[in-house]
Parts: sequence; structure tokens; C-alpha cells
Amino acid sequence: MIQAQQRWLIFVFISAVLISSGSPSVAATGPGRAAVASAHPLATQAALEVLGKGGNAFDAAVAASAALAVVEPASSGLGGGGFWLLHIAAGGRDIMVDGRERAPLAATRNMYLGSDGKAEARLSLDGPLAAAIPGEPAALVHIAERYGRLPLTESLRPAIRYARQGFAVDAHYHRLVQLRRSVLERYRATAAIFLQAGAVPKAGWVLRQPDLAATLEAIAEAGRAGFYEGEIARRLVRAVRAAGGIWSLEDLRQYRVVEREPTRLRYRGLNVVTTALPSAGGLQLAIMLNILAGYDLGSLDKAHRIHLVVEAMRRSYRARAHYLGDPDFVAVPRRRLASVAYAAALRQGIELNHATRSAALGELGDPPGKGADTTHFSIIDAAGNRVAATLSINYPFGSGFVAAGTGVVLNDEMDDFATQPGEPNVYGLVGGEANAIAPGKRPLSSMSPAFVETPQRIGLLGTPGGSRIVSMVLLGILEFADGQPPTVWVSRARYHHQYLPDAIQYEPAAFGARLRERLAGMGHRFAPLTQDYGNMQAILWERRGNRLRAVSDPRGNGSARVTSWPATVRPGD
Ligand code: DON
Repeated sequence: MIQAQQRWLIFVFISAVLISSGSPSVAATGPGRAAVASAHPLATQAALEVLGKGGNAFDAAVAASAALAVVEPASSGLGGGGFWLLHIAAGGRDIMVDGRERAPLAATRNMYLGSDGKAEARLSLDGPLAAAIPGEPAALVHIAERYGRLPLTESLRPAIRYARQGFAVDAHYHRLVQLRRSVLERYRATAAIFLQAGAVPKAGWVLRQPDLAATLEAIAEAGRAGFYEGEIARRLVRAVRAAGGIWSLEDLRQYRVVEREPTRLRYRGLNVVTTALPSAGGLQLAIMLNILAGYDLGSLDKAHRIHLVVEAMRRSYRARAHYLGDPDFVAVPRRRLASVAYAAALRQGIELNHATRSAALGELGDPPGKGADTTHFSIIDAAGNRVAATLSINYPFGSGFVAAGTGVVLNDEMDDFATQPGEPNVYGLVGGEANAIAPGKRPLSSMSPAFVETPQRIGLLGTPGGSRIVSMVLLGILEFADGQPPTVWVSRARYHHQYLPDAIQYEPAAFGARLRERLAGMGHRFAPLTQDYGNMQAILWERRGNRLRAVSDPRGNGSARVTSWPATVRPGD
């Protein structure tokens, strides 16, 4: 059994395999009426198809989510969850649909600790014991019924077609199967779907998922009950329990999405609308942007600017580790953490020319002031409705477990809990009491879809990337604030600091030797990455001239399209 402290190494390795495909950046620009940027061309096509049939951005989001479940089975799906950030143009309302997974009712705080009292990472990563109760099916039904115009039979049609007719897998699929081969081989139903006669399929192999098509059809016909009750539910529970998991029919029956008020932030004339807990993103972005608002970043040289951004990251990940968890279970001092006063107090500890040692920050005590593989898409429609959604089953292929006869890959989101408070999870994140396991509780997440707004410019962005999601979204917002175009938000070389480990992680192109020397001179430590990370899908709408730009991260295989109906889409393509 591997131990918790080895997980960090796994993540460093995995992030190398996870991302980079080396394809060119895909950008689409023009005067348009709708735009879609997603991590897979077939998902973008599904969204466009549904828009072409008169659907709105919400129907398109349902279509894209379901298509991603089929064509990126390692990244998100019906066995997982996510956060869908919606902007409803009529009335100007923003809503976060929380379709995050919940711990099973039989979950216990110490369920992943071995007899030596130490967390056994494999238990919370591989197999059905690692799976929390999925939220994506409920979220899709909720979004379609409450905000969509089309029936689920229409919005799920492209995904059902991809699942039944199959699609050619790419090199990325090949790499991820290779990575998770040992766990995929362990479960017969999984291996039968994702391996080619027991071998890792090569790019070009056609993956067909008839069981998944049937599960999607059950949802299209019966809505929520098609997944959470009846035959699919019974198959899920039977298979999970037979393989050592703890799900019950009651777990599925009880699952509900929660609509939450998004987190709203102001930063130098920008309005940022982003996730609420149980995503750590909103509060972490609040802390970082509030800290950075106290500096004139534009007047600083690059090294000092990066230094201050890193110090802001360090402090927000530290606060996350201590305070953040499911707000339905723990009291989180949200207002105080998001306050200008808290940021001002944190700023006082930042030296302009010296890195703070994370260990020197010591323990966090009372709340302040008393004195958080995965995928993302962004969609905007002709009416101005928007969706930015980040969806996950956590690790590539989640838990690796498919309940026979469902085609659904179950998540391993239980690893996002602090399985042993104080010990790092697979992304190297430490957590405490606030994110300890409890029955029915949602694990803290990093997924942070966001809207960034000025009177003239509206940005939609988000990305996968584990713990680095929040810092990537921060860097994207800072580029937006600098007036940079979305090609820059998605492509600029990235850096990251998460409090622990106390080192700046950075893409090879992020720092040249001189810049690194200057940062080292300030006392920064480094954990250079050998590969790039992230897969941001972004849209910029400039009201003047009604210009839309949609961009996919050059690190991934995504596709971005801007369209003025009905010119470019042939529904059914
Ligand atoms: O919710 C979270 O924070 C994680 N389950 C996200 C995992 C992820 O982004 C993996 N991607 N590269």
C-alpha cells in the first residue's frame, strides 16, 4: 500500500501524463451569436447541434456535459459531479448548480486509515470504496428542467449517439489508459469497455459504450429517477457492494443538487462571479485578489509581480487547508475570509523582497478578523445566457470501477476529503477538521469556473488541474485585468504555489534563468515541472461590435467555435 506522503509524487507524475498533447491552440473569433469552447471537438459539436435545434446555453451545457461523459471517459461523467455556473440573461441572475458528489451514508471519518493509523492512499483512489455518490445525472436533469428549452431526449441525443455508434480515441486516451491500466484491468466490466481485448488501445480505435447509451436513455426518458431509482440504481448498488463498496439505495435516493449563490468579488474595476463552497475556489480567489489589490502590480518588474502573486497563493491555500469544507456541515467564516480587512492583515506579513517560509506562518488559530482529470467548458448563446462548468470524476478514470450493465465509471472523489487531517491528498493538499469525512458530506473541491466582467468585456473561463485549478483561474483573471486577449489567458506559461509543499511549481517556459535567480534571491524555493499543466476553455464577449472569441488551451485537444446561426452547423454531424 502506498502511503499518503507518496501521493504528491504520483500527482507530479500524473500531471505530466494528464495534460500535454502538443496540439496547437484552437481559437475562433468573429461577430457571433453563440460560442462554445470545450475540451473535445465532439462535445463542442454536441453543444452546437443542440443550439442549432433552438436550445439555449443551458441545453447546450447539458449536451456538452453528457458528450464529455462519453468522449472523455477518464475525465468526467455520470459517475462523477461538478459545478455549473449559470448566468440567466433575463433578469441578470447568476447561479451555481452544485452537482458535487456526497460521501455515502455509511462513510466514516477514518475509513481510509490502515491498522497503523496511516491513510492508505489506494483505498481512496482505486475501486468502489473510493467513490462518492454521483451528482452529474441529477445536475443535468435539474439544469434541463429548470433552465433549458428542450427535452432531455433532445439535449442528450448527441451523447447517446456517440456512445452507441462509437468514436475514434486519441493519443490522450491511450496515455490515460496506460496510466490506469492496473486498476482498469482489475474490474471485468471496466476492462471490457476501455481495453481492446485486454490491451491498451491505440489512437484510432473505436470506443463503443452501449451500456452507457442505455443509461443516458434511461435519464432522457425518466429524468432523475432513471439513474437514482429503478434498475440502474439497483445495478450500481449491487456491483459496488459486491466489490467492497458501501453504497446503498438510500444514498442514491437522497442525492440532491443544491443551487448556491455564487461568490462575487471585485478586483480593480472587475466583477468576478465564481464558485461557492464546497468549491474552495471562490474564497481562495477572494483572498488572493484582495491581497493583490493592495499593490500596483502594473508598476512592478516581473520578478516582484510573481513574488507577490506567489505570496498571495501561499496564504490562500493555507487558509483553505484550515478553514474550508462543506458549508452544510461545518461553519466557515466566509465573510471574514473574503473581507478586505483579512487580506490587509495577511498583506502585512508579506515582504516585498523576501519569500515567507510556509512553516514560519505557523498554526492558524481562531477565525480571522475576530478581531479548492476533470474537464471544463464555456458556452454563451445569442441571448447572452452563459455557462462555465468544471466537471470531474477526480483521477483519470476515477476509481476505475464500472458497475456491470451501466457503463458508468465511478469517481474517486472521496480522496478530496482530508482522509487523514494534516496529511496531503493526491494533489499534495493538506486539509483539516473542516474537510474531514462525514456521511452525506461533500468533499472540498478546487473546481472554479468563473465569469469576469466589466461593462464592456465578459469573460468565461475554467480549467481542470487538481489543486492548481484555483491558481490557474487567478492567473487568467489577472491577464483579463491587464486587458489581455483570451489566447493569452489560456496559453501563458503558468506557475503555482499551494502553501505546502513550500515551493513554486512552474511550467518549463514560465521562468527563464534570470527570473528564477531573482526569485531565488528573494528566498523562493522551486519544484520545477517537466511538463505543462491545465486545459483552459475560455470565451470573451466584447459587447462593442458583439465580438465573440472562443479559445481552447493549446495544451489540450479542445475545440472552440463561434457561430452565427445557422451558418456553420449541420445538426447531426
Ligand atoms: O474537485 C477537485 O478539486 C478535484 N477532484 C479535481 C481533479 C482534477 O482537476 C484532476 N485534473 N487534472
